[in-house]
Amino acid sequence: IDPSLAKTPQMGWNSWNKYQCNVNETVIINTANAMVSSGLKDLGYHYINIDDCWSLHQRDNTTQRIAPDPTKFPNGISGVASKVHALGLKFGIYSDAGTNTCAGYPGSYGYEAIDAQAFSDWGVDYLKYDNCNNLGLAGNATISSKRYKRMGDALKNVSRPIFFSLCSWGTDDVWDWGRSIGGQSWRMSGDISDNWSSVVSITGQAVPIANISAPGGWNDMDMLEVGVHDQMTITEYTSHFSIWAAMKSPLILGNDITNMTNDIKNIITNNEVIAISQDSLGASVQQRSMKGNTQLFAGPLSKNGYVSLFLNEGNSTTNMTGTWSEIFNNPKANTHKSIAVRDLWAHKDLGRFQGSISVSVESHGVRMLKFSQQA
Ligand code: DGJ
Repeated sequence: IDPSLAKTPQMGWNSWNKYQCNVNETVIINTANAMVSSGLKDLGYHYINIDDCWSLHQRDNTTQRIAPDPTKFPNGISGVASKVHALGLKFGIYSDAGTNTCAGYPGSYGYEAIDAQAFSDWGVDYLKYDNCNNLGLAGNATISSKRYKRMGDALKNVSRPIFFSLCSWGTDDVWDWGRSIGGQSWRMSGDISDNWSSVVSITGQAVPIANISAPGGWNDMDMLEVGVHDQMTITEYTSHFSIWAAMKSPLILGNDITNMTNDIKNIITNNEVIAISQDSLGASVQQRSMKGNTQLFAGPLSKNGYVSLFLNEGNSTTNMTGTWSEIFNNPKANTHKSIAVRDLWAHKDLGRFQGSISVSVESHGVRMLKFSQQA
């Protein structure tokens, strides 16, 4: 665990949303190659992460290590890791803070030191740590945090810096203890799925804890569904990506990046939105107002900049207004101050505005605006 790994929310790709248990070396290496050739790597997507189902059902008899499935990974995990590293990318793996993973493969509970050492030896840079089959060691923060801390401590004892991603589903208010046990991000909700109501639900759950995300540790709203099964419209996927970026969730792609439409690629490669996610201040936007089906979010950026997100969860196009006092969360905001505003999806400067700004927001859409200064 190295705190400098979590200065900004982590970016990468994970196999679960698209491939579920159908993981193997070919999928991982093709994805890693596409990460480079598509330009995603240069935009900051650095992790290639395997999820559940990479191992055999039994640990290795002699070493007690989790044994990679030789059919899926003929060169072992270290073989995949070194190919991923050769492309200038980082490599992540998955285990579970229980006896077994959700799909029934060996978990790390009771084997934390052995597994952390294996991951370090294999060249693993990232561990996603799930919450299934946890022997009932849950129900309050003390019990759950102890169980996760066992792996946090084991990771601290190995030589390789390994990013520690808690897949804790919001259990026992993980946002209150995730950071203290070594976690660098923590899932704050159940599993995402490729539909708009899932995005709306997770967003609602993230609102009250938005202030917890900060450099070193982030609320994880789950892996992106952009382009995974095409069950959302392009407008909805754009909103999903915008909210995750503005709320400083990790940006872990879930789609098949070897085969993307231009519309999907345009969303996940928007460098102005990625810059909000990766802004060095590391502050999430917060909800400033909620009127009917619309919500206004805003938050500070480095260099005195500001970002706001106008979200319309309703079923028709709506005009939304944000006043300077709402956006900048300051009743004494200077309503006479004129501020330059940029639209991060239109890639256009909208001009200077005084006191407030009104925008039209389509159904299930967002407008994401960057302010050059604060009032
Ligand atoms: C539950 C997690 O929340 C998912 O992200 C995924 O890792 C599955 N388990 C794998 O079994």
